Amino acid sequence: MEYITIKGGKKLVGSVDISGAKNAAVAIVPAAIAAQGVCIIENLPAIKDVNVLVGALRNLGIDCQFIDTHTLKIDSQNIKSCAITYDQVKDMRASYYLLGALLGRFKHAQVPLPGGCNFGLRPIDLHMKGFEALGAKINIEHGMVTATAEKLTGTNIYLDISSVGATINIMIAAVYAEGVTHIENAAKEPHVVDTANFLNKLGAKIKGAGTDIIRITGVERLHGGEYSIIPDQIEAGTYMIAAAITNGDVQVNHIIPKHMDSLSAKLTEMGCKVIENGDTIRVIGTENLQACNVKTMFYPGFPTDLHPQMSALLSVANGTSLMTEAVFEHRFQYVKELLRLGANIKVEGRVAIIEGKNTLSGAQVTSTDLRAGAALIVAGLAAHGTTSIGNVKYLDRGYERFEEKLTAIGADISRVHIDE
Ligand code: UD1
Repeated sequence: MEYITIKGGKKLVGSVDISGAKNAAVAIVPAAIAAQGVCIIENLPAIKDVNVLVGALRNLGIDCQFIDTHTLKIDSQNIKSCAITYDQVKDMRASYYLLGALLGRFKHAQVPLPGGCNFGLRPIDLHMKGFEALGAKINIEHGMVTATAEKLTGTNIYLDISSVGATINIMIAAVYAEGVTHIENAAKEPHVVDTANFLNKLGAKIKGAGTDIIRITGVERLHGGEYSIIPDQIEAGTYMIAAAITNGDVQVNHIIPKHMDSLSAKLTEMGCKVIENGDTIRVIGTENLQACNVKTMFYPGFPTDLHPQMSALLSVANGTSLMTEAVFEHRFQYVKELLRLGANIKVEGRVAIIEGKNTLSGAQVTSTDLRAGAALIVAGLAAHGTTSIGNVKYLDRGYERFEEKLTAIGADISRVHIDE
């Protein structure tokens, strides 16, 4: 068993390089199946979700070779199967992109219903509706989704919810649909745009990614190509919050500051100094953090994936803050763990009412999902005494060298292995 232990109370000072975006990587790696040539993907984050996907691709007979830690060569010309087994992808959510990629190119895909972070039902009905609208037949049985089509035909697809997953998945499949597909009420997250840019680099004709309506004109063939993944908005945000909670002074490097606007605005409102310069943001903390209200929204709103970390920060601000979750109703599992660290939080429906306290106190806690785990790390950095965080497997899914990067900016953090 593994734990992360943190001796809290140290100011974080220095600079940290941000890795490639997890949520773009987990879409772009499967999307490379659509290419009928070799893809070289750069700036891949070295995280477990990527490794799991690479393993799944290799099991399909796709040649995947790491050129270095962050660069992957994918050649799907000798693919042998379109069926993924449960054991290969059971711990991750984004395995659903294999459906869109295999269905689009080979008109057949068999992929288990997704696993991953457990904060509510997280259905994929909109993905299925989109595939059906393109002409696919979907069968869900024994936990497996089978999608087949004689051919896919472009059409108008209106998404009831601006789902990131559904937008990207339908976009990947529609690249090979005959005619034009419009995805209306599309998600606008940076990784939607990044996946579209990647596919366009291979010869796809996608316009409007990053707006409400994405227009995809089907093509007969995608060639190979090189592509570099955007920086991780959520990893960057986690370090910015970590700087603020420790009253530190941290510069996050290699980011797209625009992606951070919703967080930068809130940190500024709380009294931190947030200084943008080129592809960096420097966050200088304050001893006098002020409470503020936050509501998660689709991009460019405040990201739900920074909600738990932000709640940790609001737990030590002066006054009462409201954190409203508008994307995932059941995202509050982290609250009971923050309570163990002495936070004062009540949840009513979709709102957490957070009474700020001067200090948190270290305790043994367990991460319940990826971003909940990140929130506990952030809280542990500020808490007096030692915080010990269990279930670190979640963190390994999405943060590259988390302890190493934090240690380099002054955290007292380590991973402990205990034989069971
Ligand atoms: C993606 C991200 C996740 C992030 C989330 C919201 C990846 C791999 N994961 O997750 O980190 O927290 O976006 O930014 O990119 N919904 C349906 N039916 C569907 C699909 C979604 O009802 O078919 C609902 C969901 O339950 C949720 C909302 O739509 O309430 C948004 O979900 P979605 O954007 O699809 O999130 P994910 O793709 O699962």
